[in-house]
Amino acid sequence: MDATVLDHPLCDHKVSLLRDRKTPGILFRRVLEELGLILAVECTRHLPTEPVAVETPLERTQGRRLTALDPVLVPVLRAGLGLLPPFLQLLPTAKVGHLGLYRDHDSLVPVPYYRNFPPLLDQRHVFILDPMLATGGSASEAVRQLKVAGAQRITLCSVLAAPEGVARLQQDHPDLRIFVAALDRELNDKAYILPGLGDAGDRLFGTL
Ligand code: URA
Repeated sequence: MDATVLDHPLCDHKVSLLRDRKTPGILFRRVLEELGLILAVECTRHLPTEPVAVETPLERTQGRRLTALDPVLVPVLRAGLGLLPPFLQLLPTAKVGHLGLYRDHDSLVPVPYYRNFPPLLDQRHVFILDPMLATGGSASEAVRQLKVAGAQRITLCSVLAAPEGVARLQQDHPDLRIFVAALDRELNDKAYILPGLGDAGDRLFGTL
């Protein structure tokens, strides 16, 4: 599936603020949350709805409501935690799973060190939250872990993506929906996204 790259002036403005090395941590966190709200609106467009009867103060009418079980948000530790508050703001009843992955030094393969998913994944829409889609190795493993646990409808929500990461995911998981705020140029030899914004986790949590 093609990746959807958000096309909105607010998105461009906020991505530039995130990229700026002079943006202090407190502002970085806030702007990431604001971008998360826009991402959350866009990447939930496919959620199914059903008719619902509503009584306004004036008359009965028909509205629509989300169907099925609450969706699941899965932040990939640790930078994914920065996108969780805005997604929960718009999807307050969503269930939250967590996934921690580290990269094995020798094989460079991402290995899960923490995994906690809610039940009934096969019946829910799952949103993986990971601001940086770099090589795609971690994201691909996150999707694999969720599929093994039963998930069938998965969307990845990222702020920046490298073309290499998008291509990897399209190959490994052609059924995955991908939403990004901006598609960057390339990876450097340390797998950082260029032009990028640096280490999202470090900037978010002040561990620079
Ligand atoms: N993770 C980050 O935080 N930044 C990158 O550029 C790549 C991966």
